[in-house]
Amino acid sequence: MQIHETIAGLRAARKAAGRVALVPTMGNLHAGHIALMQQARERADAVIATIFVNRLQFRPDEDFESYPRTFAADCEQLVAAGVDHLFAPDEAEMYPQPQTYHIEPPPEQANILDGAFRPGHFRGVATVVMKLLQIAQPDLALFGKKDYQQLMVIRNMVRDFNLPVEVGAGETVRAADGLALSSRNGYLSAAERAEAPRLYRVLVKLSAAVRGGVRDFARLEREAMAELDEHGWQTDYVALRKKLDLQSASAQDSGLVVLAAARLGSTRLIDNLEL
Ligand code: PAJ
Repeated sequence: MQIHETIAGLRAARKAAGRVALVPTMGNLHAGHIALMQQARERADAVIATIFVNRLQFRPDEDFESYPRTFAADCEQLVAAGVDHLFAPDEAEMYPQPQTYHIEPPPEQANILDGAFRPGHFRGVATVVMKLLQIAQPDLALFGKKDYQQLMVIRNMVRDFNLPVEVGAGETVRAADGLALSSRNGYLSAAERAEAPRLYRVLVKLSAAVRGGVRDFARLEREAMAELDEHGWQTDYVALRKKLDLQSASAQDSGLVVLAAARLGSTRLIDNLEL
């Protein structure tokens, strides 16, 4: 695997490659990331992974400084997954001067759900993903459904700007007990880790109720949040939405997804389930 720290180096390598798939990450790789690498491997001649912890998408009170940085172990996993190129720029390479132009996703996409609790987050994500797409110029870019709202924002950005890239999605990879793999799971204490799969379980329960015919979505959301809060969580939201645009769903809608975000101690976890 070739490691590129500069845009010029990555661009030169990209020119020599055929059909390229890009998998952007912030590192601290786990099986969820690696599943995206494997999908990329199957769908392209060359795979470019990126590792860059993007300051723009963190709020000042969030975990930018403490975000786990495990470069050597990440490289081993990428080599084992057959990744050809790793783009791992430092901040000076990505933001040689403060970024002045930004991608501003529309409020109805960026200010709902996670965006309501992390103002500016999706602007930071969209801006860095736009930069990574311009730098690597991939034919295919892959993102996980674990970050469902992020995937929607990126898909819509690519469509609105006619970017010449196909966006692909990977299913959420989970631990055996259901907990969605996440770099932030490493922040959990042993007791919190034992409690954490409840987030997935309440989503499974809620989706079973909807599939069983319950149509009072507001009640289901309230009950799910109450169950989490009773077990020591601080729940930001549990919300049944339309898959396509993540807007509120009414009883007759189909094509639904239930999304949730909640904190256990100081760790904020998100998850979702398509119905
Ligand atoms: P990061 O959290 O490192 O995730 C990188 C990619 O892996 C994202 O597309 C994410 O949805 C996917 N992913 C994470 N956990 C997953 C899981 N359990 N199963 C399947 N896929 C999973 O998301 C980001 O980084 C950043 O916002 C980024 C897009 C790189 C922009 O900075």
